[in-house]
Amino acid sequence: MTVEELLGRAEAVALNAYAPYSRYRVGAVALARDGRVFDGVNVENAAYPLGVCAEKTAIVQAVVAGYRPGDLEAIGITASPCGGCRQWLHEFRFDTVCYRGDDGEIREATPAELLPDTWNLPE
Ligand code: THU
Repeated sequence: MTVEELLGRAEAVALNAYAPYSRYRVGAVALARDGRVFDGVNVENAAYPLGVCAEKTAIVQAVVAGYRPGDLEAIGITASPCGGCRQWLHEFRFDTVCYRGDDGEIREATPAELLPDTWNLPE
C-alpha cells in the first residue's frame, strides 16, 4: 500500500468515528508486514477522558488478531498523532507513520522522530 492509499483508507474509515462531543473524526489504518490491514477510529464518551484515539483502536484490533510489536509496518492517520499515541507507536515499533499535517500536507516520520527520548520500562 502506498502512503496515499493508507491515508485515503484512513480518511474513508474516519467517517465511522464516534465523535459526538468534539465532532472531530479521526481515522487510522495500520498495515502489518504480512499485508493485513487494521482500521481504527476515535470513540468518544460522555465522560470525556474515557474516549480513545483512532491510532489506539487500530492497534488494538491488530493485537486482538494476534499481532505484536514489530509486526506492524506502517500506519496512516488523518491527523497528527497526540503525545500518548506517539508512545503507542513507539511501543509497536512501526517503521513509518504517515499523517496529514495541519497544513494539509502529507508527512512521514519514524516513531523516534515523533517522540525522541521515549520512556521505557526499566528492566
Ligand atoms: N484524537 C485521535 O483520535 N487521535 C489523536 O492522535 C489525537 C486526537 C481524537 C480524540 C478525540 O476524540 C478527538 O480526536 C478530539 O480530540
